[in-house]
Amino acid sequence: MRVHVADHPLITHKLTALRDERTDSPTFRRLTEELVTLLAYEATRHVRTEPLTVTTPVAQAIGVRLSNPKPLVVPILRAGLGMLEGMQRLLPTAEVGFLGMIRNEETLAASTYAERLPDDLAGRQCFVLDPMLATGGTLAAAVDFLVRRGADHITAITLLAAPEGIERLEQDTSHIGVPMTLVTAALDEKLNEKGYIVPGLGDAGDRLYGVVD
Ligand code: URA
Repeated sequence: MRVHVADHPLITHKLTALRDERTDSPTFRRLTEELVTLLAYEATRHVRTEPLTVTTPVAQAIGVRLSNPKPLVVPILRAGLGMLEGMQRLLPTAEVGFLGMIRNEETLAASTYAERLPDDLAGRQCFVLDPMLATGGTLAAAVDFLVRRGADHITAITLLAAPEGIERLEQDTSHIGVPMTLVTAALDEKLNEKGYIVPGLGDAGDRLYGVVD
């Protein structure tokens, strides 16, 4: 797995504001979108294209356009939904599939509770959105799900990642046989005993959408 920590002053600036516990939900949502658009620029570095020649007012110009099938963006519900708008801003023609995954707060095991994806993902590049790579269980399960459907190129985009999550994701995806990249805005210190990223930003879903008991 290739890990890219997007080390850029604008990203760190926005992330610092996002982490601040005083940041309210509307600002948190806006900052998340802005951050994802910046991360998407890096994450789409290997997006597939095909040659295209256009005629300018002056001459012919050789360029490219996105290949078919178009990339598939997969936000993991619920917190990944807050990243979708930012991703679509850079990749408006991508298709979107949804994967609902929840982790058991005691065992920290991930399970799928909803899914709306094409049955056949053969030849698809998938961009998986999940703001927090904590234990790695959710993202590893999502990647496994997509590869079983035929996805042949996976890029996961997160805001924060813990070393424990990266290690688990690396282990669990080592056998999948498709290129896998993680793009994250920062690599944090560790997980605490409740599975939260330290220093992190708290519960991303709650900060985006409020607390649901
Ligand atoms: N999920 C979150 O929202 N925050 C964490 O710190 C870990 C998992």
